[in-house]
Amino acid sequence: MTQEQIYDMLREVQHPGKGDRNLVELGMVGAVSVQGNKVHVTLQLGEHRDPLTDYLKGSVRAAIYRHTPVDTEIEVDAVVGKPAEEKPKKKTVNDLTLEEVAQVRHIIGIASGKGGVGKSTVAVNLAVALARLGYRVGLADADVYGPSVPLMTGTEGAVPEAMENGDGEVILPIEKFGVKWMSIGYFAQPGQALIWRGPMACNALKQMILQVRWEVLDFLLIDMPPGTGDIHISLVNDIPMEGALIVTTPQAVALADVEKGVDMFRNEKINRKIFGLVENMAWFTPAELPENKYYIFGKDGGVKMARQFGIPLIGQIPIVQSIRESGDGGQPAALSSGPDGLAFLELARNLAEQADR
Ligand SMILES: Nc1ncnc2c1ncn2[C@@H]1O[C@H](COP(=O)(O)OP(=O)(O)OP(=O)(O)O)[C@@H](O)[C@H]1O
Ligand SMILES: [Mg+2]
Repeated sequence: MTQEQIYDMLREVQHPGKGDRNLVELGMVGAVSVQGNKVHVTLQLGEHRDPLTDYLKGSVRAAIYRHTPVDTEIEVDAVVGKPAEEKPKKKTVNDLTLEEVAQVRHIIGIASGKGGVGKSTVAVNLAVALARLGYRVGLADADVYGPSVPLMTGTEGAVPEAMENGDGEVILPIEKFGVKWMSIGYFAQPGQALIWRGPMACNALKQMILQVRWEVLDFLLIDMPPGTGDIHISLVNDIPMEGALIVTTPQAVALADVEKGVDMFRNEKINRKIFGLVENMAWFTPAELPENKYYIFGKDGGVKMARQFGIPLIGQIPIVQSIRESGDGGQPAALSSGPDGLAFLELARNLAEQADR
């Protein structure tokens, strides 16, 4: 027996003095509690005592008797006061936040100052690598303009199920490679441009992340959209993000972008932890000469940047053709045991260590 069922039973009780409207519609049902076989209903009588009070109490009792087992104990009382709302309020996205996201130990944004540095590649492979290490992992693709998780994980066309939650709707993530994935891309036709702007994009994103049944997770990674604009600030504020990983490439010109990324999380309004810097495309390694490293964008760029901002360099990922190919083919490189896979496992191990500090 649930509260909701009791409400349904009370919809069968009409107030003879008020046309055909039932007690729930009239806002005359106050508190309803169900405990084991005990049901307690409080009628809310408005500003004045209703002459039909005893009649209504009897009708309520009868309505509940009709639908419940014989040993049900029913108590009905009535109070005078302002009418209650029609129903207990539906849960809002923000209430769900607390329930669902509270079970996630670390929510970490994957960010960069500029686009195209390999954020999504790092996010997807890091998620897979963390799962390979035995952590419970989810990844939300927060890039509303160019979601890349469906392609990179080979889950294009997957349709997440929605589920009634009693007092709201939750979305079930797509599971593959031991990771729970969610992307706005699952809700659009492939190739269809998403034309959301500003606040609409923010809301869609928030829902997409907060209304998902992630269950218990060690890590929830958020693949942030490129840049450091309003949408980022509102994302970090609305989603209880613990901190961020900043992805960069080694060129000296990337320094200014890293600074923007770092500032975004360190400014006093946001003030979140930065778990570390990831240097992507740190060197080039040809498939046929896996021992060789060619520093085509310069050596130690990442080391210098990390030192300059006082954050740990927690991963260096080489440029390997297989990383791009496996991304495009939906089989993340982190699944392999080549140098590409190992680089991501190393990154995952370092992040877990930073997070557990
Ligand atoms: N280490 C790497 N080795 C080879 N190719 C890579 C590597 N990292 C990223 N790429 C390739 O570079 C391209 C851009 O990467 P990705 O989409 O991950 O960047 P992004 O920062 O998420 O971009 P955006 O800002 O558009 O979201 C992709 O084609 C990807 O496969
Ligand atoms: Mg991306």
